Amino acid sequence: MKIEPLGGSLGAHVTGVDLRACSVDLCQQLRAEVLAYKVLQISGSVLSPDQLLKVAEGFGRPLVHPVVPHLEGHPGVIEIRNFGKAHTLNEHWHSDVSFEPEPPDFTFLHAHRVPQYGGDTLFANQVQAFEELSVGMKAALGRLRAVHSGAGLARIMGKSEVPEVVHPVVRQHPETGEKALYVCRAFSQRFEDMTGPESAPLLEYLFAWAVRPHVTIRVNWRPGDLVIWDNRSVQHYAVHDHGDMERVLLRVTTAGSRPIGESH
Ligand code: SIN
Repeated sequence: MKIEPLGGSLGAHVTGVDLRACSVDLCQQLRAEVLAYKVLQISGSVLSPDQLLKVAEGFGRPLVHPVVPHLEGHPGVIEIRNFGKAHTLNEHWHSDVSFEPEPPDFTFLHAHRVPQYGGDTLFANQVQAFEELSVGMKAALGRLRAVHSGAGLARIMGKSEVPEVVHPVVRQHPETGEKALYVCRAFSQRFEDMTGPESAPLLEYLFAWAVRPHVTIRVNWRPGDLVIWDNRSVQHYAVHDHGDMERVLLRVTTAGSRPIGESH
């Protein structure tokens, strides 16, 4: 297995592994690398939905998405397709399904068909974003919780309302102990016990702070790539700059736990 960093802040590119025969040992090794690099782009294995699920099972229990329908015969696998710029579901900074009480730990995104150009995915390191804040801001944020909602996504998918949830603004990683910012433009609505307008100035500041270029990487997809990321420490953004060109990716997420903060 060869591992090369993808950027100065996060991410690594992995070659020399065959994911079609993902042993327990290999999954454990990849899991340790995801915790260290936060995002892994693993090239070279075209996977069926069952093989993709097998890799994910090496990390945790695959989840059924609360709003987006799954691939027929494969609960746990959703297909991300290009429905045109007007219908993109993920062209915004987000941590997957943060509007659930127990959002997924890991996401597995596998490229079946990729456009000739464009359609990259951006990732931002939320541990570094937190670490670079002032001591005073870190202390203030440590006392705050934010309301997350998936209502917008549910509406697009023609589903009834999903309940709001409240999570700490600074999330402590249960495995690495690292602290990360845990608010995102797509789903974080306001701070707990505050109105939207009261919350907006600081939330807007944090949304921008969290995705400054030097804490990001850009993954350029090749067919057969599997990208695995840790939703507890990154946000991501799908860039829709590929017009009507086909882009088909399969996605699995694995079970997580209720985010914990410093004072909760
Ligand atoms: C996602 O938001 O989970 C998928 C990102 C992508 O389509 O690149």
